[in-house]
Amino acid sequence: MDEKKPLRSQRSYGKLDRDGFIHRSWIKGTGLPDHVFDGRPIIGVCNTWSELVTCQYHLRELAEHVKRGVWEAGGVPIEFPAMSLPETQMRPTAMLFRNLLSMEVEESIRANPIDGVVLLGGCDKTTPGQLMGAASVDLPAMVVSSGPMLNGKFQGRDIGSGTDVWRFSEAVRAGEMSLTDFMRAESGMSRSNGVCNTMGTASTMASLVEALGMSLPGNAALPGPDSRRKTLAHLTGNRIVELVKQDVRMSQILTREAFENAILLHAAIGGSTNAVVHLLALAGRVGVPLSLDDFDAIGREVPLLVNLMPSGKFLMEDLSDAGGIPAVLKELRPLLRTHAMTVSGHMLGEIAEAADEAYNREVVATLEAPFGPSSGVWVLRGNLCPHGAILKPSAATPSLLTHRARAVVFEDIEDYKARIDDPDLPCEADSILVLKGCGPKGYPGMPEVGNMALPRKLLAQGVRDMVRISDARMSGTAYGTVILHVSPESEAGGTLALVKDGDEIEFDGPNRRLELLVDEAELGRRRVEWEQAKAPSRFERGWYRLYIDTVLQADRGADLDFLVGKSSADVTRESH
Ligand code: FES
Repeated sequence: MDEKKPLRSQRSYGKLDRDGFIHRSWIKGTGLPDHVFDGRPIIGVCNTWSELVTCQYHLRELAEHVKRGVWEAGGVPIEFPAMSLPETQMRPTAMLFRNLLSMEVEESIRANPIDGVVLLGGCDKTTPGQLMGAASVDLPAMVVSSGPMLNGKFQGRDIGSGTDVWRFSEAVRAGEMSLTDFMRAESGMSRSNGVCNTMGTASTMASLVEALGMSLPGNAALPGPDSRRKTLAHLTGNRIVELVKQDVRMSQILTREAFENAILLHAAIGGSTNAVVHLLALAGRVGVPLSLDDFDAIGREVPLLVNLMPSGKFLMEDLSDAGGIPAVLKELRPLLRTHAMTVSGHMLGEIAEAADEAYNREVVATLEAPFGPSSGVWVLRGNLCPHGAILKPSAATPSLLTHRARAVVFEDIEDYKARIDDPDLPCEADSILVLKGCGPKGYPGMPEVGNMALPRKLLAQGVRDMVRISDARMSGTAYGTVILHVSPESEAGGTLALVKDGDEIEFDGPNRRLELLVDEAELGRRRVEWEQAKAPSRFERGWYRLYIDTVLQADRGADLDFLVGKSSADVTRESH
C-alpha cells in the first residue's frame, strides 16, 4: 500500500469538520473511543447469523473471535448483518434470494466507511451470495465459514445430512423403514450447529473458498463447534488487517488460475453440482472468463480423491480428522495452478506443499489410487440442451450413463407431485423422467427438485435409479443419474418445453450428448403451439418480478443481467 494514501474509511472518519462530526459521533454511540479514528483499518464483519438456520446459529460467537483478531492486529471491527438464506426453511427456494443477498452485501460494503470485510456465512447460498457481493465492490476480503455439523448418529452408525434423508424417505416409500425410525433419524441427523455434514453445497463451497484462495487453510472442514474454528476466525481477524494495509483486493485473488484450482478441487471432492452455477456467477462478477465447458475440460482427468457422501462413505468431520482440504490439495499438487495467490499471503502451491499427508487414506486417497475414475462435472450438449446441461457422474449409476428410452413428462412440479405415485403412470424401469418448469425463471429460483423421487410402483420392484432430466438444480447431498440445469430452460422456450410423453431421448454420457429424437418439423409445429398457449406470469411485482425479468440462464450462473461485472468501491456523491 502507498503509506501516504489514506484509507477509504478516513474519508468519513478522518474529517475535522461537520461531516466528520456526523460520521464519528453517530458511531461513537456504540462505545468507540476517539483514538480508533486515527486512520487504522476499519474492518466490516458481514454476518449472516440467524435463529432461522442452525448452519449459522453460532456465527455471532465466531464473529467475536474475528473481532478479537482485528483488534489485536490494530484494526477496528464493525459487525453488520446480511440476510441468512436458510436452505431448508425458505420458500420457494433459497436460490431465489442468492442474488438479493449479493446486492445487500455489495451495497452494504460500498455505502459504509469500511476498508475490508470478513464474510461469515455457511449455508449453501450464503457463501456465493456474499462472495459475489463483495467481489463487485472489490475491497480486501476474507471468508470464515460456519464449518460442518458433527457427524449425524442413528442406531449406532453415522448418518449424513440430506443424503440419508433421501435414502430413508425412499426406504419409507418402499415399505422398508418405519415412520417411527424415520422420525428418530431426524433427531440424530443435525445434532450441532454447522452446515450439512456431507459434501453438499455448503461444504463444497467452503472447500472451493480454500481453492480460490479466499480463506485461511482449514476453513472448510473444521466442525462448527470445534475450538480450532474459533482460532481460525481469530487469525482471519489478524490477517484481514494486513490485507487492508497491503491493499490486496479480491480481484487480485480471484484470477482465472484461482477458478481453475476451484474446478480441479471440485472434481477431486465430488462436489455439489450447484457449485457450477455459483462459480460461473462469481467469475462474472470479477470479469474472469469462465464457461460451462471449462468444468468438463479442466475437471475431466481429475479422479475422486475424497470418500464423502453423497459420492462416498464418510462425513466432513472425518475429512477434518484426515487433514481437511489442505491434505486434498497436497494430492492435487501436480494438477494445481500453484502460483495462484491466496489471502494467507502464500501461493496455493505453497499451502499444498506445507500440508501434511492425509492421516486417513480411507477418507483422502492419492492420485495413483483414487476412490473413483474421473469425477468432474459432465457438460452435455445436444438439441435438448443447446446451451448445456450437467451431470455428476460420481453420483450416478454407471450402467445408465449411456441410455436411450422413452420420456415420461411432467409439465411442472405440481404435475409431478400429483402423478408420480399413480399406479397407472405409463412408466417402466428404463423410462426417462422429464420435469419442466423448474429453471431460474420458471419456478422461479431454480429449486433443488431435479433428483425427483422415483415412482412408488418402481421402488416396490427394487428400482433405485433412473435417468432424470430437468431444468432444475439438485441438492448437493443428493445422488442418482440426474441431468440438471438444462439450458435454455422450458420457461424461456428451450427445447425442453417441447418434449412430450413417449418421445425418445438419447443420452450418451461418454460423448456428452443429449438428444431429443424428434424431427425439426415436428419441433417447429410444437413450438408454435407452445407459444400460443403460454400463460402470462403470475408474478407481477417486487423481487420476484425483477428476478424473472433479469435472471440469466444456468449456463451463465443465474446471476441478474445488470449485476454482472464490478464497479468502484467509491461512492459518487458525498452523503452529507
Ligand atoms: Fe444449511 Fe445444508 S441446510 S448447509
